Amino acid sequence: MKKIGVLTSGGDSPGMNACLRAVVRTAVHHNIEVLGFLRGYEGVIDNKYNILTTTSVSGIIQRGGTILKTARSERFRTDEGVKTAAKNLKELKLDGLVIIGGDGSFRGAIELSKHYNIPIVGCAGTIDNDLVGTDFTIGYDTAINTVVEALDKIRDTAESHDRVFVIEVMGRDAGLIALRSAIASGAEGLLVPELKRDVNSLLDKIKNWRTSKSSKIVVVAEGDESGGAYKVADLIKANCPEFDIRVTVLGHIQRGGNPTCMERVNASLLGYNAVTALLGGHKNEMIGIIDKKIIYTPFEKAVKHIEELNPDLVKMMEVLSS
Ligand code: F6P
Repeated sequence: MKKIGVLTSGGDSPGMNACLRAVVRTAVHHNIEVLGFLRGYEGVIDNKYNILTTTSVSGIIQRGGTILKTARSERFRTDEGVKTAAKNLKELKLDGLVIIGGDGSFRGAIELSKHYNIPIVGCAGTIDNDLVGTDFTIGYDTAINTVVEALDKIRDTAESHDRVFVIEVMGRDAGLIALRSAIASGAEGLLVPELKRDVNSLLDKIKNWRTSKSSKIVVVAEGDESGGAYKVADLIKANCPEFDIRVTVLGHIQRGGNPTCMERVNASLLGYNAVTALLGGHKNEMIGIIDKKIIYTPFEKAVKHIEELNPDLVKMMEVLSS
C-alpha cells in the first residue's frame, strides 16, 4: 500500500481532527503517502486535496471542527457526481480511502464502491452517536458534555425563578444526546423519537410537578415527533397555564469546542485502526469500538437506524426523575 486518501464528510464533530492526525501519522509510519481531500466528497469531485505529512497534523488533536473542512455534498448524491469522484480516485491511483463521517457519508461510500472497487474504511464521526457497530461516535462525548454544561447553567436561572425550561438538543433522528444529557443533568422530562407517546406521559408527569421541585427541565431531541421545544412549551402551557415557561434551543454550539480526553483517545484509536484495517485487507467497513474492542461493521449494517435506546438507561431516567 503506497498511497491513500482521507476526508471528513457530513456534519463536523469534535475529535475529527484527532482522528485525522492518527490516520496521517499511522500511514506515514508505514511509509504510505496521504492525500487529504477538502470539503468531503466535494474535494474528490473537484480533485482538490493536500498532501498531508506529520507536520500538517501538528497541534490539531485539541481542536474542534475539521482542518480538512467538510460538506454535505449535494453533487455526490447524483450519479454524475459519484462517477466523477470514482474516475478521479482511479486516476490518482489510490490504494485506499478513509472516510470520517456519519451515516450519509457511509451511504456515499457504498455508492462510490459500486463505481470503483477501491478499499474504503470509515471512522464513525457524528455527534448523534446513531451508527450501528460502535458504542461511541467521534463527537458524541464532547457534545453531551457541552449540553450538560449548558443545562447546569440553565438550572441555576430556572431554580432562581421557579421556571420550567424546555431545552431542544440535536439528534436529527436519534435521542442519544438527549437521553444521556438529561440523565447527567437531572432533567425532569425527556422527549425522544425512539419512545412513542411520550408527550402524553410527560403531561401526566407535569400534573404531579405542581407540588414537588421548583424548577423543571424538559430535554427534547430535535427529531422527536412532538415537533420541537417551542411546540412542547405550548402544549405544557395549554395544560398548565400557571407555569412560567422558557425555551432554549442549543443548536450548533453542540458541534463545536475542544474534544474531551475520551474523545481524543477514541478518535485516535479509530484513525489508527482505520489504516491498519486497510493494510489488513478490510474494505467497505466502519471501524467502531464496542466494550473497548475494535469492531468492523459493513457500511450497509452501520447505517441502519437505531430504533431502541438502552432500556436500562430509559428506566433509570424515569425512576430518578420522578
Ligand atoms: O448529524 C449531526 C447533526 O448535528 C444533527 O444532530 C443535526 O440535525 C444536523 O447535524 C444539523 O446539520 P446542519 O449543520 O447541516 O444543519
